[in-house]
Amino acid sequence: MATTLTSPTVKKYSLGMRLWHWGNAFLITAQLVTILFISVIVNTKSLRPEFQQAFQKTGGSLSEQQARSLAHIVSERIWDWHVYFGLALAAFLVFRIVLTFVQPAAQSFRTRFREARQEGGTALFAKYTYIAFYLFLVVQVATGLALVYGDNLGLARGAEHTIKEIHEVNMYLIIAYTVLHIVGVVRSEIVERYGPLGSMIHGRAVGEERL
Ligand code: HEM
Repeated sequence: MATTLTSPTVKKYSLGMRLWHWGNAFLITAQLVTILFISVIVNTKSLRPEFQQAFQKTGGSLSEQQARSLAHIVSERIWDWHVYFGLALAAFLVFRIVLTFVQPAAQSFRTRFREARQEGGTALFAKYTYIAFYLFLVVQVATGLALVYGDNLGLARGAEHTIKEIHEVNMYLIIAYTVLHIVGVVRSEIVERYGPLGSMIHGRAVGEERL
């Protein structure tokens, strides 16, 4: 007998899928926080004149080049964290790809997508947003890795600029998806009694018996 989503032995979301979901959510948030620090909280670009003013106050002086070097140290610290989280995000993506091949058919995205196509409406729309998100994630990880290892791979300097642009624009698509996703989950939680948030924590579908 084919296993379905309502199978008594298979949860809606596998443990691996739930770990991936929350790990991925944490890492994307962490990545956005690094960008928030670089551009707003620490705002490394504004550090240069501030460093020069601080030196002047104590009777010293700091050339433009020296101030730039100091600001560079601060921004590099934050970028280092961006790369650590980025590498973890890449590892999680590999884990997600492996899951596709090892989890039961009932838990696969393909099965859920097929069911959503029969249901149509919001369920199907949500699945399309997931496909878009996976695409954004692949682009973000691929461009991020190209920025980290581009020199070793012999990537041209001009290409690096274009890759950075793609990486930055794609970030806004990821932010837009995240907002839409959270709105969708909150809406489902209100409409359904035992919604998607719970399913992604304990793995069971709405109304499913404890496994
Ligand atoms: C949701 C995930 C991510 C977001 C929101 C994000 C966002 C950004 C943004 C806005 C920039 C600045 C681009 C520019 O200067 O035009 C950047 C740069 C960069 N990102 Fe990401 N990124 C993410 C994932 C990754 C991943 C997976 C890696 C790979 C390990 C990565 C590695 C880098 C590197 C190396 C830079 C260049 C840093 C520098 O200029 O020194 N990022 N990222």
